Amino acid sequence: MSPVIDICSLEELPPGEHRLVEWEDPEVGVFNCKGELLAIEDRCSHDDGSLLEGEVDTDTCTVECPRHGSVFELRTGKPVNLPAYVPVDTFPVSVEGGVIQLEVD
Ligand code: FES
Repeated sequence: MSPVIDICSLEELPPGEHRLVEWEDPEVGVFNCKGELLAIEDRCSHDDGSLLEGEVDTDTCTVECPRHGSVFELRTGKPVNLPAYVPVDTFPVSVEGGVIQLEVD
């Protein structure tokens, strides 16, 4: 079974917010996209840019890598434009007793 770690209370991550979870390497970004909780690794598959330092679009649930502009879908981890073409990892997120939990492997 994959380890599950507590992130924060649901109130601490309202829609439109995101936060970095320091879990081994790479670190993980958890996003609240219009009430949908999503998590991806914080490392661009093109050249290791920090995706959490990029611009998040909560209308499309995407994040743009700040280094060369590849946009990644938060739900799937897939890039939608070059130069990145390999998906980044995604992680299951759940809420248990009002606490956001992240399943990591
Ligand atoms: S490092 Fe992200 S697009 Fe190049």
